[in-house]
Amino acid sequence: MGLVWTEQLSVGNAVIDSDHEKLIGLVNDVRYAIRSRDGFILTKEFVRLEDWLCIHFANEERIARAVDFDFSEHRQEQQYALRELQHLRDELIAKDGLWSDGAVAHFTGFLEHWLIDDHIIGLNMLMKPTLQAHDYAFQPG
Ligand SMILES: [Fe+2]
Repeated sequence: MGLVWTEQLSVGNAVIDSDHEKLIGLVNDVRYAIRSRDGFILTKEFVRLEDWLCIHFANEERIARAVDFDFSEHRQEQQYALRELQHLRDELIAKDGLWSDGAVAHFTGFLEHWLIDDHIIGLNMLMKPTLQAHDYAFQPG
């Protein structure tokens, strides 16, 4: 089943929430590609996810700076996440579609845990009290 963005995942800012909804869709696409074991689609979906992640990380940093939130921990985690995703992508592409059902569960579970538990809940929620002091639609001018 695909991951879904819900109100509970809101970090109190429309731009970031909408990015997260988009990222959840892209992670669903990568998870689908892992299940389908199609190397071409997998590469394509990983590139889309990584490209969007870079845009999202830049949006987060721009907003954090505008609301005066200390972003240093976020920046470190972002760089770590990008490296981890690149490792995962390289590992999967090297296997050329030859992975077990157990590996499918492992890799798709890893992606879900990383985006939902680590990135949104574990990291971005730290910004919520600061973001909530501003309008939900706030974005830097
Ligand atoms: Fe985020």
